[in-house]
Amino acid sequence: MRSIDDLDVRGKRVLVRVDFNVPLDTGADGAAVVADDTRIVAAMPTIGELRGRGARLVLVSHLGRPEGKQDQSLSMAPVVARLRELVDASITLAPAVVGDQVKALSEKLGEGDVLVLENVRFEPGETSNDPELARALAELADVYVNDAFGAAHRAHASTEGVAHLLPSAAGRLLEREVLTLTGILENPARPLVAIIGGAKVADKIAVIDRFLELADVVVIGGAMCFPFLSAQGHAVGESLCSEEDTDHARRALEQAARPGHARLELPVDLVIGRRPAADSEHRVLSAVDVPEGWMGLDIGPVTAERYAGEIAAAGTVFWNGPMGAFEHAPFAAGTRAVAEAVAEASGLTVVGGGDSAAALARFGLEKEVDHLSTGGGATLELVEGKALPGVQALDGAGVAS
Ligand code: 3PG
Repeated sequence: MRSIDDLDVRGKRVLVRVDFNVPLDTGADGAAVVADDTRIVAAMPTIGELRGRGARLVLVSHLGRPEGKQDQSLSMAPVVARLRELVDASITLAPAVVGDQVKALSEKLGEGDVLVLENVRFEPGETSNDPELARALAELADVYVNDAFGAAHRAHASTEGVAHLLPSAAGRLLEREVLTLTGILENPARPLVAIIGGAKVADKIAVIDRFLELADVVVIGGAMCFPFLSAQGHAVGESLCSEEDTDHARRALEQAARPGHARLELPVDLVIGRRPAADSEHRVLSAVDVPEGWMGLDIGPVTAERYAGEIAAAGTVFWNGPMGAFEHAPFAAGTRAVAEAVAEASGLTVVGGGDSAAALARFGLEKEVDHLSTGGGATLELVEGKALPGVQALDGAGVAS
């Protein structure tokens, strides 16, 4: 993969695809503000390095899913406001994504200046990877850098199409994400322990399958343990447990039983409740047969200790997905125990974005892991073994620099 080391950027306009798709909140004055700037901060190494090398930056990102319309509630304005607090540079928000006015602004940029394009999904051609839009984006720059790991699984005009039209390379974040995630799959320090949680087996079955092939231990938590427990003949009460998920789980259990596959660990006790709410009646169940009228909402204390032991003994840990309904205090202990074990682990720790990142942040442990991925879907697809179009497009298919 070509990196920004391979590009000559001095004095050049560099189009940088970033993933500034961040959650927004309403500020004191009623205007939108960035609620979590993790992804903006994660782009700082690339932005800082390119500016330091005398590049003129044109940043492009999507924000939410405006579906090809100018939805002002999804303008990049709040992102630009946060960027101005983080980067000491002249930063301009363009009035649109492409067009004559935007082109003129890109031509006026001085070395180190930054132009942020409007939400690229305001253009209908973005998600359809329209060559016209890719060309219009390419006209704004001399060189293309993709640092948007979180959007690298999308073959869109700003992540894929434009990469074929300019000399291109991976930014520091995208490079680090791809190298770290492929590194733990291809050459992990062993034992490799994968902790997979979350609500639905269907969403993660390809990840579970891959780790059953590659890992030493696969640990299952969250609501997705119930299809597994159901497939083993346990009662699941009112727990989340679809037939489709139970079929996936049955197949995964069969796969795990074959020689050469990872050991699959399931909960041995649970915290059950009447409903996923902070004020719900709840209790510890020292087994895994959930009574009628109750639902499993967290792994139990014995399971949490076992899982923490697996994590402590690991050479490499990959964690994706919470162990229970951690947003409600009575059901947070299992996810907290796993988060603390990951934070304390001596092996290499890699956490896939989304809910597990939110869990780490809730317990104040987000800085205690070796690699906290900024991707959601992109992280899962890479781990599943799928090629990411935004990464593939950088691999020599573009114009040589
Ligand atoms: C994400 O948040 O996972 C990325 O920014 C991709 O967003 P999307 O799912 O709307 O393409």
